[in-house]
Amino acid sequence: MPSKTDAPVVLGIESSCDETGVGIVRGFELLADQVASSMEQHARFGGVIPEIASRAHLEAFVPTLAAALETAGVTLGQVDAVAATAGPGLMGCLTVGLSAAKALALKLGKPLYGVNHIAAHGIVDELVDGELPGRLMALIVSGGHSSLLLVEGTHVEEVGRTLDDAAGECFDKVGRVLGLPYPGGPHIDKLGQKGDPKAIRFPRGLTRRQDLEKHPYDFSFSGVKTAVARWVEAREDAGEPVPLEDVAASLAEAVADVLCSKTLAAMRATGTTTLVVGGGFSANSELRAKIQDVIGGAGMDVRIPPIRYCTDNGAMCAAAGYYALRHGLPPSSLDIPADSGMPLTQLVA
Ligand code: KG4
Ligand code: ZN
Repeated sequence: MPSKTDAPVVLGIESSCDETGVGIVRGFELLADQVASSMEQHARFGGVIPEIASRAHLEAFVPTLAAALETAGVTLGQVDAVAATAGPGLMGCLTVGLSAAKALALKLGKPLYGVNHIAAHGIVDELVDGELPGRLMALIVSGGHSSLLLVEGTHVEEVGRTLDDAAGECFDKVGRVLGLPYPGGPHIDKLGQKGDPKAIRFPRGLTRRQDLEKHPYDFSFSGVKTAVARWVEAREDAGEPVPLEDVAASLAEAVADVLCSKTLAAMRATGTTTLVVGGGFSANSELRAKIQDVIGGAGMDVRIPPIRYCTDNGAMCAAAGYYALRHGLPPSSLDIPADSGMPLTQLVA
């Protein structure tokens, strides 16, 4: 592995949703991680508005890049490769960051890596815990995805996925039912920390025997979402107060329970002994605790990056760019399009 000072400097750009992120790494060392968010502009609509987010990326990109370079103490001339999210994500948003990355790569005469946002959510852990092993299971849980990926170097196989809502999406939708601000995920987390997770037994999707036979490692979170909505409605109809903290804690328990049991089953079936967890939903405190208990307790090596690296950021793209470069993946062509539906199995476009 290259030493600290001669490892390549990779500039990473994230713009798949509402965060404009620019990160800079030197090998596994994080030099800068600058993020500007347009979330406040979307909150009143109850969801991210793509046109507003794209415009916000345009406005935020240059100042965010300048701040990242200054923090890192590097000049553009010292950058060895440029990485940007090529997908999945919102088309207009992706296009802003990817176009900026292409312009920089062209101007600097350096390789471009159009990286996969989902893979980057797991690879960012290298900046905290060092090089990933050659074979591992990744659980990526975000606002748009909940997937179990078997990763062997640059080969990625999706062994499980949600059949409907993603874990974060489920929390955000329940947040709306409970009258919480958007996105509901972090608010439900906070409420749940004060509640009783055993207060209400919400359904665990796809865990009945016949479901497990067909979908051993797949998830379904739309049933639990509906169950929470019905439970709350029934309370309201009866004129009874809704115990928000217990509802939140019980929902978190139900979701974390299924994520952990299926992850452990997938690890046992594939003989993997390292788990990397990533994506915005991996900031959830109940999930983080349960993963340590269930997966760590089963003797597996658990790697969950600190919360600041779980939600979208530029450092994850820089880390993914370094991963691609180190593994000898060919750089992307300068005419790659943004790919809103980029397959999870593709590390680089
Ligand atoms: O990875 P991310 O920042 O964006 C996507 O790629 O989707 O994930 C955002 C998702 C949202 O659904 C948000 O509610 C959820 O992550 N989230 C959380 C927490 N922090 C963020 N969900 C539960 N608990 C949290 N602490
Ligand atoms: Zn994300």
